[in-house]
Amino acid sequence: METLGVGLIGTGFMGKCHALAWTMVRPVFAEQPVPRLIHLAEVSADLAARRAAEFGFARSSGDWRALLSDPEVEVVSVTAPNALHPEMAIAALEAGKHVWCEKPMATGLADAERMRDAARASGRVAILGYNYVQNPAVRHMGNLLTAGAIGTVNHVRVEMDEDFMADPDAPFHWKSEASSGYGALDDFAVHPLSLLSVMVGLPERVITLQAKPYADRPLPGGGRRPVETWDIASALLEFAGGVSGVLAVNRSAWGRKGRIAIQIFGSGGTIAYDQERMNETQLFTLDGDAADRGFRTILSAPVHQPYDRFVPAPGHGLGFNDLKAIECHELLSRIAGRPARIIDFETGLEIERVVHAMARSHEERRWVDVPSVA
Ligand SMILES: NC(=O)c1ccc[n+]([C@@H]2O[C@H](COP(=O)([O-])OP(=O)(O)OC[C@H]3O[C@@H](n4cnc5c(N)ncnc54)[C@H](O)[C@@H]3O)[C@@H](O)[C@H]2O)c1
Repeated sequence: METLGVGLIGTGFMGKCHALAWTMVRPVFAEQPVPRLIHLAEVSADLAARRAAEFGFARSSGDWRALLSDPEVEVVSVTAPNALHPEMAIAALEAGKHVWCEKPMATGLADAERMRDAARASGRVAILGYNYVQNPAVRHMGNLLTAGAIGTVNHVRVEMDEDFMADPDAPFHWKSEASSGYGALDDFAVHPLSLLSVMVGLPERVITLQAKPYADRPLPGGGRRPVETWDIASALLEFAGGVSGVLAVNRSAWGRKGRIAIQIFGSGGTIAYDQERMNETQLFTLDGDAADRGFRTILSAPVHQPYDRFVPAPGHGLGFNDLKAIECHELLSRIAGRPARIIDFETGLEIERVVHAMARSHEERRWVDVPSVA
């Protein structure tokens, strides 16, 4: 039986998602090799040992470099905070491992370029954790667009909102440190941009405003620390062919829990979707009598592959962790040399270029062209 040795760096929110995906992928996708959970790394040997026991990894370490020296590890999940992605992903590629790195790619464009270059030089597969593109509903939206269901696309509006930073007294988090990046731009905007990249392409020009709802946050030991990142960003987007767009992201949006809303407007209809109702696609077309027209809800079902691999019945719904299992399946397909729906380090870098252009636009208070990727 074919197998693949897995290493996991980081065991927080995303680390657990990757561990679950590695555990689920083979029962769901029988054509894939059996992942062998070999080595897990965390900030301390104690925490690593505890998580290895919980997640079912054979070995653990308080030093992620020890994981990369483990010859049985063939693919590495990088789920540590943003600032560590370049060093970890590049070292893993140089050690001959395939890489599944969480988004954003890096906090600086030069680092993202180095990651892309390392992936090219290694000949290994390197992908980013843009799980939302894996939703069968999102794939179906892409199929509807390709089939011309809403005519010619002329405008898009994308949003991502959550409220985990809405409380002004929520404790200071690594996501409020400048070392984590810009804030909502590279934490959130990259997700709707990943969706645009697979459906209508990425913008060529942007103008952006970032905002900081709270100046400081409490520290666990007392006192407050200034917030160094922007939790809100709004942008106007210009695409090739005269398509226009709006992007709005907010990490301090009370009441929004996991909203990634996308609306695509065309000459003959509209497609709309929200990740908070991730098994539903809204479609408006000009079919039938004008008096009877309205949005219809397409509920995800086995016909929207690979939903069928999880559940044989329509309407039962997939969840967030299922998207991660699909992403893992696509990674394994690419490693095996088969066509795969992935955001690799090449496309990832294009997304980074948009985000950095947005940040520059904010700084310079003007429209900025997104540089093309060399
Ligand atoms: N794809 C998604 O939908 C999604 C969702 C949330 C977060 N993320 C991304 O995942 C990454 C992690 O975010 P999170 O929410 O899981 O954070 P988290 O704080 O919950 O987890 C990070 C983990 O990394 C560990 N870590 C830190 N430094 C380390 C080191 N030197 N060696 C080994 N482990 C180390 C921490 O101890 C912690 O367990 C971020 O880049 C974030 O942007 C992606």
